[in-house]
Amino acid sequence: MNRRPDSVVVCVNNRFSASRPSCAMGGAEAIADALEKGIQERGLGIVIERIHCLGECADGPNLRIAPGGNFYHHAKLADVPAILDELEALLKA
Ligand code: FES
Repeated sequence: MNRRPDSVVVCVNNRFSASRPSCAMGGAEAIADALEKGIQERGLGIVIERIHCLGECADGPNLRIAPGGNFYHHAKLADVPAILDELEALLKA
C-alpha cells in the first residue's frame, strides 16, 4: 500500500571524482530542479529534499518518493513527467 507522499528525496551528492560515482555526475541537480518546477506548476504541495547519499551510488542518480514510495535508480530528466504523474496519482488515491 502506498502512503500519501509529502516529499521526494533526491541525492545530489557530488564527489568530484571520476573514480567514485555520485548522483550529481548524472545530472541530479537538474532533475531536482525540474521536479520542483513541475510540482509548483501542478500545485502538488510536495517538497523536494536534496540529500547527500541514499547508499546506492553506483546506480544514480537516485531519488525516492517519501514516505515509503518508489525508489528510482538511473533517473533522467526524461523521467520527470512520469514521476510527477505518479505523485499526482498518489495524492488522488
Ligand atoms: S551519491 Fe547518490 S546515492 Fe550515493
